[in-house]
Amino acid sequence: MADLCVIKGDGISSEVIPAVIRVARQVIPHLKTHTAYAGWDYFQEHGTPLPQETIDMAKDIKAVLFIAADSPSVPIEGYFSPIIRLRRMLSTYANLRPTRYLPVPTARVGVDLFVVRENTEDLYISDEQVADDGDTGTATKVITRQATERIARTAYWLAQESQYSQVTIVHKGNVFPQTDGLFRRVALEIAEGYPQIETDELLVDTAAYWMVKNPSRFNVILTSNMYGDILSDMAAAWGGGLGLAPALNLGDDVAIAEPVHGAAPDIAGKGVANPTAAILSFAMLVRFHWGQVDIAQQIEDAVYQTLSEGYHTIDIPTDKSVSTVEFTDRVCEHLE
Ligand code: NAI
Ligand code: MG
Repeated sequence: MADLCVIKGDGISSEVIPAVIRVARQVIPHLKTHTAYAGWDYFQEHGTPLPQETIDMAKDIKAVLFIAADSPSVPIEGYFSPIIRLRRMLSTYANLRPTRYLPVPTARVGVDLFVVRENTEDLYISDEQVADDGDTGTATKVITRQATERIARTAYWLAQESQYSQVTIVHKGNVFPQTDGLFRRVALEIAEGYPQIETDELLVDTAAYWMVKNPSRFNVILTSNMYGDILSDMAAAWGGGLGLAPALNLGDDVAIAEPVHGAAPDIAGKGVANPTAAILSFAMLVRFHWGQVDIAQQIEDAVYQTLSEGYHTIDIPTDKSVSTVEFTDRVCEHLE
């Protein structure tokens, strides 16, 4: 629990990373951080978005903090999303994305759910082609028994661990019986091993409807990569917004703390980004990867107290918003 690989990315990464490190050192004074690089800025200078040294360091240290990289929405020769690649290369096959009520005016009271998103396959293998005429694009969707079994086990383990009573399997098996149908079947097989936890299932469009109408209906959502990506951003709105939404990429060996939000280029460089999502992502790493539940709880409590005192950053409607540094000062004071 003494070493953390910190990957410098794009946009607000350079403002949010120091906030996380300050909080981390407050509770783990002997923590050693090791800097690595990835993303669009790095690509511009060096021709790759993810250098081998970064992969090696992450593999070696096994505990990683990654905020975000900018990825253009048009194909760029030689560029790929470094975080999607890294999740796969480090076999962090589960993306855990909690949404819990936080004391800000934008959050919904009573929401307490976890999206457990498969992290290594589905359409995110990025196997796309375009036909010779340039007018037809195709993409390959891959769902395997092996990846579904391990993500399903993670969801039920998490439900047990966090004392949730229900797991909802989300899929679109009616339209994709060979891929989502397989996901559903395998998930239901794993569910049989956990009779004490209630299992239900929803088609993804219906799940989206319920996520908007009654998010308290959900405990743990077990789903594939793409549906999890979308549903967790929807859920984040109930937690108070993207600036507050943490996530952890977790495998058997390595964990990557990575908030749900992106590089936020519209506010980058202004010193106003909300560090909450990143700090709480680090707390998830401490809890689930390092197994230090008490330390994780201390961090979460300090953030909660800071928010409940009305210290809010620009993304939360408030009379007076504080800077990233002022917010972090307050969190650290609560940890003294
Ligand atoms: P985004 O999450 O970066 O921003 C969406 C909105 O939320 C913006 O208005 C932004 O200012 C706000 N926001 C996000 N995080 C915030 C924070 N911590 N504090 C205050 N406000 C915050 O998503 P967007 O705009 O779709 O993507 C921007 C770039 O980030 C793109 O290049 C995209 O590819 C990349 N991205 C990277 C991710 C990653 O590396 N994990 C994940 C999502 C997007
Ligand atoms: Mg997303």
